[in-house]
Amino acid sequence: MKQNIYDNDIFFKGYTSLRESGISYNDFVEQPALKSAISSLKGKKILDLGCGSGQFAKYCIDNGAASVLGIDISMNMIEKANKENKHEKINYLCIAIEDLELHNQKFDLIISSLAVHYIADYSALIKKVTSLLNKDGEFIYSTEHPIVTARHEMNNWVKDKEGNRLYWALDNYQVEGEREQHWYIDGVIKYHRTISTLINTLIKNGLVLEEIIEPQSTPAGLEKMPKLINEERRPSFIVIKAKK
Ligand SMILES: C[S@@+](CC[C@H](N)C(=O)[O-])C[C@H]1O[C@@H](n2cnc3c(N)ncnc32)[C@H](O)[C@@H]1O
Repeated sequence: MKQNIYDNDIFFKGYTSLRESGISYNDFVEQPALKSAISSLKGKKILDLGCGSGQFAKYCIDNGAASVLGIDISMNMIEKANKENKHEKINYLCIAIEDLELHNQKFDLIISSLAVHYIADYSALIKKVTSLLNKDGEFIYSTEHPIVTARHEMNNWVKDKEGNRLYWALDNYQVEGEREQHWYIDGVIKYHRTISTLINTLIKNGLVLEEIIEPQSTPAGLEKMPKLINEERRPSFIVIKAKK
């Protein structure tokens, strides 16, 4: 099932104000790790899957990329991208990753920031990514860490009576599939997959694993969001880099 949750007005408002605050897990944990995995952007032809409001596409062009095609299922996001991060070397397309068909184009780098956990069929996604990569092309993506998506309840800190976090609960790890969550609104659907599925699907498609990052907060993040110290106790995200 494809869900276009970012076109829900309440969700979009909540998510946008979080990202515009500049004080988020994206700013201090996920984006620094994703960027650190990129060897070079110079002259690269890039595809950004789930490009959101185009910040990353713009970052790529500002750092020497030749072109970026950013695609997203959400019209809200694509309109915002065209308003805020427009550039002659960037094209934004409102289409689901699952429906993308590009017969005569290949890319040097395919990037995806926190969109893969919304995709039901990971195997089809990796097959598509592989077919769209040039030889030696790289695929770098971040996704919610399997230890975060595993539990059906997705409310994983076990706390004492005073509300102190005692430990992180892990359950149903091997039970892959849909998870429903409250995030601004009820009914946000994400997909849980084990680490072995994430990695072995890349290998089965002939990609070579280059790096895995389970990021912690940057020092600036720890100052501005002290709760990010909890990334030491369990990682929220995983960044995976593979080469064709
Ligand atoms: C957490 S946001 C990240 C946005 C952007 N990558 C960033 O880092 O700012 C996830 C994005 O994935 C998009 N998305 C979710 N499911 C999608 C799908 N099936 N096809 C294309 N985009 C999708 C959402 O609309 C949203 O813009």
